[in-house]
Amino acid sequence: MTAMDLSRRVIVALDFDTAEAAAAVVERLGEAARSYKVGLELLTAAGPALAAGLADAGKDVFFDLKLFEIPSSVAAAVRAAGRHGATMVSVHATAGARILEAAVRAAAEFPRLRIVALTVVTSLTAADLAEVGVGATTGEQSARLALLARRAGCHGVVAAPHEAAALRRLLGPGQLIVTPGVTLPGGPGDTDHARPAHPVAAVRAGASHVVIGRALTRTPDPAAVLAGIIGDLRAASE
Ligand code: C5P
Repeated sequence: MTAMDLSRRVIVALDFDTAEAAAAVVERLGEAARSYKVGLELLTAAGPALAAGLADAGKDVFFDLKLFEIPSSVAAAVRAAGRHGATMVSVHATAGARILEAAVRAAAEFPRLRIVALTVVTSLTAADLAEVGVGATTGEQSARLALLARRAGCHGVVAAPHEAAALRRLLGPGQLIVTPGVTLPGGPGDTDHARPAHPVAAVRAGASHVVIGRALTRTPDPAAVLAGIIGDLRAASE
């Protein structure tokens, strides 16, 4: 794997409430960062201009929209993201086959755009699932949803790192597996990942991409943290 491929596999989450704060991190990361994720906070607070600018500059941009709506609305949102240059959009797999298929059809207008289905949000436990009427473990539920997503034509899934190995065995080599919920030793304390994992562990387990936010963006030297992760991934792949 080339250095470029490896750096594109590390997706920096720009979870900020102003475009200026996000732009400051982008500026500090410079050429080293090839992939970004923009989510509901930044898009709602600041609009899509920053994300579209990143796409124009050649970055991969994951619009983490976590869509769950009627098929025509999901398709319209996917097309809107595609026009901004998005390379990835997330849809909740729980939304079911017809909604996932609508997203995939809409994405087909944009050759680089991939639809990833969110299986089980990484902070959820079996008890949380039981509360909403799902009588499966998080592992069982993420496997069921991953197969549903593949049947619907999705390009991959978003899943917790500890589900990555089982999902890779289940899905085979072609599908994307995007894992948020990664952490770094000595990074800022994190409370809402039920079971975080190191990026190298996530990739070894089968993740195609890791998403890293606060443990990188909220540090004094984000470029050094990113270089460290890419270096660790490179060492692990040799
Ligand atoms: O924790 P961190 O800042 O690295 O989070 C980066 C991204 O990971 C967030 O934008 C969120 O979408 C995702 N995340 C998640 N599950 C969590 C916490 C964060 O999927 N429990």
